[in-house]
Amino acid sequence: MSKPSAAVLISGSGTNLQAFIDEVAAGLLDLDLSVVLSNRPDAAGLERARQANISVECIRHQDYPQRELFDAALVETLDRYLPDLIILAGFMRILTNTFVNHFSGRVLNIHPSLLPKFPGLDTHQRAIDAGEEWHGSTVHFVTEELDGGPAIIQGRVPVMPDDSATELAARVLAVEHRIYPEAARLFAAGRIECRDGSAWLDGERLTEPLQYRGQSPALTPR
Ligand code: GRF
Repeated sequence: MSKPSAAVLISGSGTNLQAFIDEVAAGLLDLDLSVVLSNRPDAAGLERARQANISVECIRHQDYPQRELFDAALVETLDRYLPDLIILAGFMRILTNTFVNHFSGRVLNIHPSLLPKFPGLDTHQRAIDAGEEWHGSTVHFVTEELDGGPAIIQGRVPVMPDDSATELAARVLAVEHRIYPEAARLFAAGRIECRDGSAWLDGERLTEPLQYRGQSPALTPR
């Protein structure tokens, strides 16, 4: 059987994309990374894709007067690669329902907070300001609700005393590089699906997201 095909959508540095590239190259992830698409021509992640010999596409959102038209262009381009899975990896555009429904149940996103806490932007500073002991990241299925689709896996990191948002962001990013390929592995193996507004693992509804246990025990919460 051929490997599932995945499209990765980025807007920036693409360190999560790199995690996918590395795991595929190491034979740890059975995905065919068929295309990397950016809405920004200067996204550093495009160079990572080229280095890995992955097809790249750039569709500038400024070239489209309406979100719907931009999304239609995304769909048309992505469809050419017949993706089984769409991986949003730092793609900084809000997608319309047209896009989400076209790829229904096949779009994953990673959000830098322990959802449902802190949807939206500036999550690291907001977690610090709220005095959280733990912060982290969530991989979830994308539905019509922004940052609200069923969660699959979370990685937690402690908030350290005197953390800056930058320091906390770096700690979160490291765990993202573990949990995102993990979620994709489950998808590629046909073990997770999105149905009836929930994530299902091996045919059982997930009542709460899986928790990634790989963090260093040396790290303690504040
Ligand atoms: C990550 O923090 C992710 O949670 C958010 O955007 C960032 C992407 O980083 N959605 P990178 O481009 O993968 O380095």
